Amino acid sequence: MFISFEGLDGSGKTTQIQRLAVWLRTHHQRVLTLREPGGTKIGDAIRAILHDRSNAEMDARTELMLYCASRAQLVAEQVQPHLQSGVIVLSDRFADSTLAYQGYGRGLDLNFLRSLLDFVTHGIKPDLTLYFDVDPERALQRRLSSGAEINRMDVEAIEFHRRVREGYHQLIAQDPQRWQLIDASVSADQVAAQVKEIVKARLNIAD
Ligand code: TMP
Repeated sequence: MFISFEGLDGSGKTTQIQRLAVWLRTHHQRVLTLREPGGTKIGDAIRAILHDRSNAEMDARTELMLYCASRAQLVAEQVQPHLQSGVIVLSDRFADSTLAYQGYGRGLDLNFLRSLLDFVTHGIKPDLTLYFDVDPERALQRRLSSGAEINRMDVEAIEFHRRVREGYHQLIAQDPQRWQLIDASVSADQVAAQVKEIVKARLNIAD
């Protein structure tokens, strides 16, 4: 089982992935949590370049290739072998982030991105994608007040984040079986309860 977590920065997905991992482990499930970009030695080095705010001149194509290079390494080193050994893999972002941010956000060609992502991921797709929906203004506010790292993408104009959110909504409409939209504007406990119910049903876990 491969579950990805998607949403704007500040949507609370990182807190929720940790909470779900703890809950699954208490139900005797083997779980691996990953994050993108990063999750491998090479990927973490790429993450530092991508998040560095002094790299403001980065071209959209360079950005795309760096996210994809990090993901190719993550799939080869972590995702593929763990899925093969029956571990539940939870990933904080996956290929859909590239469609949302580089496709809908930056305006790169979506058909080209889909073929590139297929190559990068060896065709691996999440079985379930949880999307944490929150408006960009609230997401930014949360991010600023949480003391989280402010990265190169956070300083993009609010219109960019609006296009990304709209992009996510389009992705959900295109593949509603795989996606679950979660209202992330409520409290962390309420969001965790929604996540638990969805995953419990998918994995047939009893209370
Ligand atoms: P995060 O680790 O705080 O989620 O930050 C990752 C940032 O990188 C976030 O702003 C979204 C962005 N991103 C992309 O633009 N494309 C991608 O493919 C991925 C994985 C992330």
